[in-house]
Amino acid sequence: MSVNRRSFLLATPLAAHAATWQDTPKVPTAVIGTGGRGSYLLRGTLEQANSKVVMLCDIKPDRLDRAATTAAKDNPKTTTDWRKVIDDKSIEAVFIATPPYLHAEMAIAAIKAGKHVYCEKPIGIKASEIKQLLAAAKASKKVFVAGQQLRSMTLLQEAVKKIHDGIIGDIAMVKAQRHATADLSHDGSSGDWFFDVTKGGGYLVEQSVHNLDLINWVMNGHPEKACGWGAINFYKNQPVGRTIFDCGSMVFNYPKNVQMSFTQMVFHPRAMPMGNQYVQVYGTKGSVDLMGGAPTMYPFAGGAPVVLAEKRKESQHAHIEMFYRSIIENKPAPIDATVGATAALTAILGHEAMAKQQIVNWSDFGIAI
Ligand SMILES: NC(=O)c1ccc[n+]([C@@H]2O[C@H](COP(=O)([O-])OP(=O)(O)OC[C@H]3O[C@@H](n4cnc5c(N)ncnc54)[C@H](O)[C@@H]3O)[C@@H](O)[C@H]2O)c1
Repeated sequence: MSVNRRSFLLATPLAAHAATWQDTPKVPTAVIGTGGRGSYLLRGTLEQANSKVVMLCDIKPDRLDRAATTAAKDNPKTTTDWRKVIDDKSIEAVFIATPPYLHAEMAIAAIKAGKHVYCEKPIGIKASEIKQLLAAAKASKKVFVAGQQLRSMTLLQEAVKKIHDGIIGDIAMVKAQRHATADLSHDGSSGDWFFDVTKGGGYLVEQSVHNLDLINWVMNGHPEKACGWGAINFYKNQPVGRTIFDCGSMVFNYPKNVQMSFTQMVFHPRAMPMGNQYVQVYGTKGSVDLMGGAPTMYPFAGGAPVVLAEKRKESQHAHIEMFYRSIIENKPAPIDATVGATAALTAILGHEAMAKQQIVNWSDFGIAI
């Protein structure tokens, strides 16, 4: 998968295909998991000219009812049993937006049933299940999209391409963080899984997987090893039984000894400087922060800063459009299982390093990417 091919596919506006696609039959689609993210995906899917939502699935009846109301124009069936989606041969495409511990099992079943799959990130929370999912996706002729939607942002596509073309020289080091002012709501809609590390994978795996994916994209690869420490230092036993860290500091080592230091926490006071998220990439010719508005390169030798990509309004559903475009054009999706697996495994590498308090090697996964 070359980055250039991805960039090309992602940059082709959907509207440009409208004339050739208007006669294409609508893709019968189901959504499994109609919570926060699933509802967003459902709305985006309903906007697609080439989609028809035929089934919705959630174990919570109120979520299912709300989603059915949202999708009323397509009059979908509803079910609380996700296996009914898999077994329904008329369904061709499936969105999976359940809690992370269910993703791999559901995605593998859907792939094996011959369906196109859009699986939310992280595509799995254990290396063993990701290995199986990757193998299933590679053996399938259908489309698989991983929900790493930062890759659909044209701003980042432009900036990353310029880095790949050498504008900052060779990458020597990366420094990144994902800091938030507060935890996710303890009694909110995701409170029944998010704080349990066996269901969500932990803050790094569930949330920072986006930031880590961006770094892998820039690095054109993945780290070989990681070390780090994590802790629950602020939200002790909040909510009761919490098993996910609320802070952590890691160092990931990429090929050629390029180090990436990453911190995460959920108690960064809003007024305190240097909060929020950044991905600072330090090269031999200059450096850039990819998450601070318009990515701007600061060159050595005192030159003026160079804006790598101007801020713009992005299509809200570009990633979903890419899913249907890949289905209709019968082409592999650019943001596929390999991208999703690499992102999730990078996060798992960091999480295991923190949990075990030792260096963890990618080679221990037994997954060559
Ligand atoms: N790509 C993104 O930017 C992004 C943003 C938010 C969430 N997400 C991801 O989407 C996923 C869902 O997150 P969320 O915030 O919507 O959580 P959520 O708790 O709001 O929704 C999850 C839904 O799955 C349902 N569910 C649980 N078990 C099920 C089962 N066995 N069968 C059918 N439905 C089941 C729940 O009832 C719930 O409605 C997570 O993996 C999360 O990381 C991605």
